[in-house]
Amino acid sequence: MDTGSGQGLPARPSLTVSTDLPLREPGAFQALKIRLRLWRNRQIASPRFRSIVSRLPLLRAISNRKANHLFRLTSGFVHTQILSACVSLSLFETLAGRALSTSTLATRCSVPPEEMRRLLEQARRLDLVTRVAPELWMLTDAGTVLAADSGLREMIRHHDMFYRDLADARAFWSGARGETELRRYWAYVRGNEPSALGNEEAAPYSALMRESQAMLADCILSSFDFSRFRSVLDIGGGEGAFLAALGARHPTVELALFDLPVVSELARRHLDGKGMLHRAQLHGGDFTRDEIPAGNDCVTLIRILCDHDDDRVVQILSNLRDSLPSGTRLLVAEAMAGESEGANLAALYFTAYFAAMGSGRCRSPQEIIALLTQCGFRNSRQMTTTNPLLVTLVVAER
Ligand SMILES: C[S@@+](CC[C@H](N)C(=O)[O-])C[C@H]1O[C@@H](n2cnc3c(N)ncnc32)[C@H](O)[C@@H]1O
Repeated sequence: MDTGSGQGLPARPSLTVSTDLPLREPGAFQALKIRLRLWRNRQIASPRFRSIVSRLPLLRAISNRKANHLFRLTSGFVHTQILSACVSLSLFETLAGRALSTSTLATRCSVPPEEMRRLLEQARRLDLVTRVAPELWMLTDAGTVLAADSGLREMIRHHDMFYRDLADARAFWSGARGETELRRYWAYVRGNEPSALGNEEAAPYSALMRESQAMLADCILSSFDFSRFRSVLDIGGGEGAFLAALGARHPTVELALFDLPVVSELARRHLDGKGMLHRAQLHGGDFTRDEIPAGNDCVTLIRILCDHDDDRVVQILSNLRDSLPSGTRLLVAEAMAGESEGANLAALYFTAYFAAMGSGRCRSPQEIIALLTQCGFRNSRQMTTTNPLLVTLVVAER
């Protein structure tokens, strides 16, 4: 493609991209867009232009905003590490519901006072804490959410692993990832026999899923009415955290769960602890090939399809189609790619996460609908939720 490095507009034929694939010549409208963008980029690349802009009040505000955005991208890893340090020192739980001085926090977090002050200052710059008087600190809104949500804190702790996988950015994004920590952690994406997983492999990820389910469950239950169903089967339901939340919200709905044998045993313990075991049927098996129990008018796949590549998704959905009676409602719930700010942030994060895991991807609702249709599900449609950063829904009918 013409880089636009010359001063005049590039000659018309050079607007095609140079690649192995033959591309169509852009239409008149696209060609105009490309030319305008090339012109604009040439201005912005010029130090003289930027210097003029910085002297004009209105344009200065715009250019400063763009410079701040670029610097935020450049330094984002520092922000992440400050958050990670605050979580690992239990700063948010320590400050929950009170104002504390620097020296008290230093003692409680076992950090020397000078270092504590510096970390608190950094946390204040990130709007995690606020200084209400000299040397006296409280949580902000974001800090309060972090203190209240143990699942969010567990995800941030879990990111230590993800961060190490991302350390060699060039190798990571060039596909030369080798064995990653996340692939070892998510044991079921590695082998062909997930049913044979033992407790030591399944328990860590199951606990993380249980803890982090709270934020999702509320969003799903507020966005989709389960009260019209007699019985809901959560396929790949983990320890049953979503079912427990559903059961609490809809006391008459019967509950059922299907997961790997070792995980459905963990679910037995969790649902027992929540006083829900008497309402729940638990099943162990492999959702790509074992028969899925019938007798439920709704089945859910929560954070399941995103874990798997398309060929495996087709196996899962085909197995569901063959097992479930016609008319069963299927609900797919996971973070999906989209145009809203939340969906865009989710896609950015999960695209990297699944690349590190070596399996799955963050799909758009349209891609999920296409896979469902390919596998014989009818009337698929997207439903918006209260928070597309966390989850988008696709419903379909067997
Ligand atoms: C990402 S977790 C999601 C758990 C739960 N739905 C949630 O959102 O908290 C994926 C779940 O799928 C289960 N799973 C993975 N492969 C499976 C298979 N072949 N058959 C049955 N369950 C499987 C895992 O054990 C795990 O509980």
